[in-house]
Amino acid sequence: MHSFHYSNNILHVEEISLKQIACEVGTPAYVYSASAIKNSFQKFQKAFVSLDHLICYATKANSNLAILRLLAQEGAGFDIVSGGELFKVLRAGGRADQCTFAGVGKLPHEIEYALEQGIYCFNVESEEELDVINEVARGLHCVAPIALRINPNVDAPTHRYIATGKNKNKFGIGLDRAESVYAQAAALPHLKIRGLQTHIGSQILTAGSFGEAVKKLTPLILKIKKEYGLEFFSLGGGIGINYQNVLENEESGLTLEKYATQVLQPLKALGLRILFEPGRFLVGNAGVLLTTALYRKETPTKKFLIVDAGMNDLIRPALYQGHHEIVPLQRQENRAFEKIDVVGPVCESGDFFAEDRLLPHLEPGETVAIMSAGAYGFTMASHYNSRPLPAEVLVEGKMMRVVRRRETWEDLVREEGNNF
Ligand code: LLP
Repeated sequence: MHSFHYSNNILHVEEISLKQIACEVGTPAYVYSASAIKNSFQKFQKAFVSLDHLICYATKANSNLAILRLLAQEGAGFDIVSGGELFKVLRAGGRADQCTFAGVGKLPHEIEYALEQGIYCFNVESEEELDVINEVARGLHCVAPIALRINPNVDAPTHRYIATGKNKNKFGIGLDRAESVYAQAAALPHLKIRGLQTHIGSQILTAGSFGEAVKKLTPLILKIKKEYGLEFFSLGGGIGINYQNVLENEESGLTLEKYATQVLQPLKALGLRILFEPGRFLVGNAGVLLTTALYRKETPTKKFLIVDAGMNDLIRPALYQGHHEIVPLQRQENRAFEKIDVVGPVCESGDFFAEDRLLPHLEPGETVAIMSAGAYGFTMASHYNSRPLPAEVLVEGKMMRVVRRRETWEDLVREEGNNF
C-alpha cells in the first residue's frame, strides 16, 4: 500500500501530507489515492493480458463520480446493481455497452432505462426476472441481452453476510436448474442469451475457491455454449485484500498472482470472452477515513477513545466485525502503547472502529487514519443520528481535489421540504 506512507514521521498519501488535507477539509473525510487505484487496475489488466477480457468494476464498492471517471478512462467496464449506479456511471463517462446489470430485485423502470441506454448484459437471478425483462423488452420493441447467474454451491470462507455462492443464499440459479432455465430463456422472443455469470462472495482470500467455482461450472458453460451460443463468462468479483499491517505489507493472503494461477488456464480453455467484477481489490486499499479524537474516557475495565467519525460513516466494523488498521498521522518514536476501544459518537454500542486494540497513546485533537476504507466505506454511509455525510478527497501526486463536499445541516432537511 505504498501510496500511503510515512515521510518525516508524517503520514502521506502520494505526495501530500494527510495532516494538510485534514486541516483544509476537516474530519471525518475519506481520502483516496488515484495512483493506487490505477496501479491495481493496471495490475489486473496485466495479469489477464493473454485473455480476451473486460474488467467490470463493481460500482457498489465506491461510486464517487471522480473514481468512476478515473476507471472509465483506464478502460474499465462496470458492474452495476441499480438504475442509480448506471446513471452515475454514464454521468462519469462510462459506456453502457460495457456495463452488466446484476442484482436479485431489478425494477421494471430500471430494466427499461438500461435497455434504452444499450446495456451489455443483464445478469439474471430467477425465472420470474426473465419474464419481466422479456416483457419490458417487448414494450420497447427490442431484444434484451441476458446471462444467467449460476450459483455453483462453493463454500468460500468469508463473513456469512457476504458469502453468496452456496445454495442457501438468495443469489443465482442452482446448477441443477441451470439448463432448464437457459431453455426457458431461449424460448422467450425478446431475450438473447449472451453469457453465463457467477459470483461466489466477497473478501475471499482462498484462491482455490475461485478455481473450484470455474471447475464446477465448466461442463455447464461448454454445454450452454454449444447449445445456445455464448459470448462471455463472468467470474464475478470477490478477490480479498489485506486489512492487517497495511502500511508494511501491500499484499498478503490472496495475491493477484495466486488468483491468476488458479483461474487463467481454465478460463482460457473456455474459448470465451471473460469478465471480472472486482470492487474491493481495485479501491479498498486506495482509501482511508480521517477522523479526529474528541475525548478520552476510562471505566474501571476499559479505555475509550471517542473520535468524530461514526458507524454511519464507516459501518464495516459494526456490521461485519471488519478489521481496519488505525494509525496516527504523526508518528512519534517512544510513544507508550495501550489497549483501547476506538469508538464513534453514535448512540449504539456497536459504534466502534476497534475493540481492545493495542494503539499508541492518542490525545484529543489528534487525527488518525482508518486504513483500507476505500471500498464499502462511503457507499455504505448513512445519515444516522442526523449526521451529515463526510467529505471525499481524491489525490494524485501533489494534487488534491474535494470530489464530494462535506454535507451541511441544510442537506439533512432539504428533501423533506416544508410539509411537516
Ligand atoms: N459482483 C457481484 C455480483 C457482487 O455482488 C459483488 C459484491 C461484486 C461483484 C464485487 O465484490 P468485491 O470484488 O468487491 O468483493 N459490503 C461488504 C461487501 C459486499 C459485497 C457485495 N457484492 C463489505 O464491506 O465487506
